[in-house]
Amino acid sequence: MKTIPVILFGTGGVGRALLRQLIASEKHIQERSGLRFEVVAVADSQRWLFDPAGLTAAKLHSIEQAKGQGDPLPGGKPRPDSLLAETDVAGVRNAIVVDVTAADGMERVYQQALDFGYGVVMANKKVLAGPWSSAAQFYNHPAVRHESTVGGGQPVIATARYLADINDHIYAIEGQLSGTLGYLCQQLDHDVPFSQAVAEAKKRGYTEPDPREDLGGQDVMRKLLILARLAGWPLEAADIRVESLYPASLENSSVTEFMGQISAVDEQMATRIAEAKADGQTLRYIGRITPEGGQVGLLPIAADSPLGGLKYISFHTALYDDDQLMICGKGAGVEMTAGGVLGDMIAVAREVF
Ligand SMILES: NC(=O)c1ccc[n+]([C@@H]2O[C@H](COP(=O)([O-])OP(=O)(O)OC[C@H]3O[C@@H](n4cnc5c(N)ncnc54)[C@H](OP(=O)(O)O)[C@@H]3O)[C@@H](O)[C@H]2O)c1
Repeated sequence: MKTIPVILFGTGGVGRALLRQLIASEKHIQERSGLRFEVVAVADSQRWLFDPAGLTAAKLHSIEQAKGQGDPLPGGKPRPDSLLAETDVAGVRNAIVVDVTAADGMERVYQQALDFGYGVVMANKKVLAGPWSSAAQFYNHPAVRHESTVGGGQPVIATARYLADINDHIYAIEGQLSGTLGYLCQQLDHDVPFSQAVAEAKKRGYTEPDPREDLGGQDVMRKLLILARLAGWPLEAADIRVESLYPASLENSSVTEFMGQISAVDEQMATRIAEAKADGQTLRYIGRITPEGGQVGLLPIAADSPLGGLKYISFHTALYDDDQLMICGKGAGVEMTAGGVLGDMIAVAREVF
């Protein structure tokens, strides 16, 4: 039995789902994979908990519960500047650092983790979609995994990696890469005004607290860029044209003001959807990329095509020439995303340590 220490950054929706899965699957993972994950540290944006001997299942459960209620980490202490320097000094070896934050600046943590011989698993896309000069080192690194950065845990990254490994030539990648925007498009199909669809998505918790983070298209752009880079195209964010679903004039208003003003877009959206429908098409927020660059935005798509049906990511390649390779399934949700993270942790533990 291999015991693998785990250092968890982030106890939001995905982090808490991961804690639940680690507790529920402990016996299964031991029996099937001969692995015992021992969470030694848990951090949120303000505090952290660290026990080199491992936090008990009861402690992890209380963390999951407390954070779910919006409380601080129970028993947590103010975060040190460098968590990993402390875990290293305490003798934690062969650990896996898990980043399920949406924080900027995690590159320094990943670098330090790899320097200490730790593995790194992330659902956070920001470093991988940052400037290629600093992101490149984390692509195809044997100790780094990031299945949940695209497709919410479906084997999208694994497929892109496989195609690159076998030297299949990828010509283009396209997909409906946001569950939130997919939901909005479905509502538009049913003639729900755009502002009402956004308000409902926010109420259901499908959007970020500030819906502009979804509507601006940056998250989709990051996913597309990660896929492009896996395909071997060292593109930058500037190579992808991004259509925002709200006007620049609403950029600086408060969330409440924004929600009050977004109806300004309703008429224009209703016209676009009516025009698409008149042509037998439907509007979908699609990302498309080739070695030359890409675009992310609302496009009219044949209603009966796979992308019209939502949830598809497809690879156009030399091997899959006449019939593109498609991955289809539920591509969003904290449980699936956490499942993808857990799968990556098992892979790193099996293959690296
Ligand atoms: N939700 C999904 O379905 C989904 C799907 C695919 C990928 N993802 C990605 O997964 C990541 C997590 O998503 P989420 O929905 O769980 O987000 P979330 O609910 O907003 O949680 C983020 C967590 O990260 C913590 N955090 C922020 N900065 C930190 C830092 N510097 N160090 C340590 N912890 C920090 C936050 O701390 P506080 O608790 O103190 O605020 C919070 O616990 C994001 O990158 C997201 O894009 C999510």
